[in-house]
Amino acid sequence: MTVELITLQGRGWAIALEPAGSGVPLWRHFGASLAGADAWSLADARPQPPNALDGDLAFAAFNTHGLGWFQQPSLLGARVGDANGEGTDWAQQFVVEHIERGAHSLVITLRDEVAALGLVLHYAIDPASDVLSTHAELENRGAGDFRVDWLAAACVPLPPEARQVLGFAGRWSLEYQQHRETLGIAAWRRDCRRGRNAHDTFPGVMIGTTLADDDAPTWGAHLAWSGNHSLLIEPLTDGRRQLQMGEWLAPGEVVLKAGERYRTPDALLSYSADGLNGLSANFHRHLRTQVLRWPGGRMASRPVHLNTWEAVYFDHDLAGLKALADAAAEVGIERFVLDDGWFHRRADDTSSLGDWWPDERKYPEGLAPLVRHVRGLGMQFGLWVEPEMVNPDSELFRAHPDWALQMAGRPLVTGRHQLVLDLSRAEVTDYLFGKLDALLRAHEIAYFKWDMNRDLATAAMGAGHRGRAGYHRHTEALYALLARLRAAHPDVEIESCSSGGARADAGILRHTQRVWTSDCNDALTRIGIQSGFLRFLPPEIMGAHIGPRSSHTTGRTHELAFRAAVALFGHFGVEADLRRLDADERAELTRWIAHHKAWRDVVHHGVLRQGTLGALAWLQSCAEDGSAALVALYRRHEELPRYSPALPVQGLAPARRYRAQALHLPALHHARHSAAVFEALRAGTLELSGAELATLGLPMPPLPPESAVVVGLRAVT
Ligand code: GLA
Repeated sequence: MTVELITLQGRGWAIALEPAGSGVPLWRHFGASLAGADAWSLADARPQPPNALDGDLAFAAFNTHGLGWFQQPSLLGARVGDANGEGTDWAQQFVVEHIERGAHSLVITLRDEVAALGLVLHYAIDPASDVLSTHAELENRGAGDFRVDWLAAACVPLPPEARQVLGFAGRWSLEYQQHRETLGIAAWRRDCRRGRNAHDTFPGVMIGTTLADDDAPTWGAHLAWSGNHSLLIEPLTDGRRQLQMGEWLAPGEVVLKAGERYRTPDALLSYSADGLNGLSANFHRHLRTQVLRWPGGRMASRPVHLNTWEAVYFDHDLAGLKALADAAAEVGIERFVLDDGWFHRRADDTSSLGDWWPDERKYPEGLAPLVRHVRGLGMQFGLWVEPEMVNPDSELFRAHPDWALQMAGRPLVTGRHQLVLDLSRAEVTDYLFGKLDALLRAHEIAYFKWDMNRDLATAAMGAGHRGRAGYHRHTEALYALLARLRAAHPDVEIESCSSGGARADAGILRHTQRVWTSDCNDALTRIGIQSGFLRFLPPEIMGAHIGPRSSHTTGRTHELAFRAAVALFGHFGVEADLRRLDADERAELTRWIAHHKAWRDVVHHGVLRQGTLGALAWLQSCAEDGSAALVALYRRHEELPRYSPALPVQGLAPARRYRAQALHLPALHHARHSAAVFEALRAGTLELSGAELATLGLPMPPLPPESAVVVGLRAVT
């Protein structure tokens, strides 16, 4: 028996669904490319299993509970407050209304007349990046309310051999830690209920046959949403697994009235035959073209930052900050970002959030003198804000205590001494817009560092503080506020910060242009944090700063070269008191900033690859046209081998020749590092072909622990 499969073909992969009469199409393929054949027609060959319901259900694009599907359904919901009774319509069965096929898109419109529900499933593949976006939209066509507890944004199959999973866990100052697990018979699941996508779980997962860096089938899924989420991988009865992801909904959070709809966030899915690095390259490309909205429509070279946080914390004084700005301009900083501590009576983290005007004690003439000074030095000015929050000790809270999220009869739960504002109220977002807009009108501010420093608890929205859970509405209102601000001030860039990297995803990146990756600036720890971040998100949005010699989160000390070599692959900056550097340190920092400026366009537009070999970790970014590459090798701790292995560099043109120039080679006190090849590397006289670099590799010197070598390669032929 043959049928015509419904396929969507990307550059390097494809999906295929099998029509199932009037029923929801069945999943047949989700992986390797189907290019090369005109028609794919073999129908599913599934005999009726013994001791099963007659007409055992096959895995479809959308699966519902109650009529014979026993795994996690794509929809969990029931009618509430209906004239025909409570709790009805919990078992649904959708039929196809119509299927719309475009060159790169597929829209399946479904209905369930018994449950009075409409459903639309959207699939769009972006051939340039090979990322498939999916979402679902449910409509209540009945008279009574319909309560939604779960609606999958993606529900896709993984083949039996895809058993290795790479998940992301973390905590404050240790974000994006990668955990490899082997899938078994139990389901693999990660939920986030913190109202931001949180330090402890990133809304993304990668699954592979081997999870190799470069050459094995690998699947990835990422939810473009900055609130609660759920990721599930569950075995099916046919040996495959289903992957579902979507927004985690609190009980009663989404109740659709007659005619209302709930649309899931977008799930971004991809496949690569080239391992984790191939998959990362797909996600990077997609984010670069589809999500990131740069002022002017195109990313300008990322300006090097000086952030004042670790330099002065709350201790702001105008003369000192001007001196810091002078020191910053001298070493080549391009954007001066005034962090927390500048606004009305803010002396520490116990007060003032909500009062977004300058502290009259620290800035008697407002921010203008500092902004003028910074602009006069040729730098952009950036400012820290945390608009979603209010301290109980603030003018705003004293005037409007009811604007903070709270629950009648429940304790007022604070975090870092602060409460969350109810962004579902127009007067709240109008107030915030007014304050931010006034700052932008009064000063030449190029950039906001938009922070968010606590989880959402007591997130009830609505009158009398007895309303429904408001996680979803908070996230939507946040996006709307950011969009309103960007519409009014299209040239302003915004950074998404959340106690470091607790709000980083493709949803927030529709409204922001940078992520503060972590409050940890310890270079050794950062290698792992940044490695996890870069799995999904591109380097140009990864805030990466050279911190002080001694890290404020770990207490470990590192030489400037190691700190700089690690920060070099992100959106580079410095977060230390430059006034305290001696002349040698200032000269060295100036050199590193110059290196970054010389190489940032390669790193920020290039194809990034990463890998580890024992205690060695490497990164390489290669220009799309193969004209240049930047390569770094980091040694985390000591190991037995006496030598470092040569490092293959991929992505260059085999026949072209490249000049290799070490940006940094560490001094080795006990090793003979006078090998001619390393001298040539240091002198910038070593030339190698792209073929040699790919196969024999770039020679690498032995490295002491917690050090790095960085080499730039530029085509000379
Ligand atoms: C958060 C951020 C830091 C800094 C402080 C200021 O922790 O992650 O970078 O801005 O807030 O209070």
